[in-house]
Amino acid sequence: MDKRHTVALHVGAAVLFFSFASVAAEIPPGAAACSGCHAAKSTVVTPVPGLNGRDAAQIMVAMKEFRMGQRPATVMDRIAKGFTDDEINAIAAWYAAQKD
Ligand code: HEC
Repeated sequence: MDKRHTVALHVGAAVLFFSFASVAAEIPPGAAACSGCHAAKSTVVTPVPGLNGRDAAQIMVAMKEFRMGQRPATVMDRIAKGFTDDEINAIAAWYAAQKD
């Protein structure tokens, strides 16, 4: 990993921490992109499984497996690669807290 990348990661972590502290209830960065495919309401039946109310740990494990190519995927392997652990944690926690 080169130096520029490391700096960018640190800035990302700082921004994430700030957003956690101040607007924990708001949708975290990146999560808005998920709802384009994963229906926002669990009552809507779509071929893509819903994420609302899912266990945060389950979402995190799935995302990490997608990222490492250990879980069968059509698109999620590529999507998961675009997110850091911190971002995945925030998104997973947010989805787990969504009732519908
Ligand atoms: C382009 C459409 C698309 C987007 C955007 C998308 N997903 Fe997915 N997701 C899928 C599909 C399709 C699957 C089924 C696995 C596959 O074919 O890749 C899936 C599967 C999953 C699963 C596993 C569910 C299960 O029960 O196995 C999780 C967790 C998940 N996505 C999380 C996310 C998160 C978090 C985001 C946003 C960062 C996201 N997805 C964005 C299409 C998408």
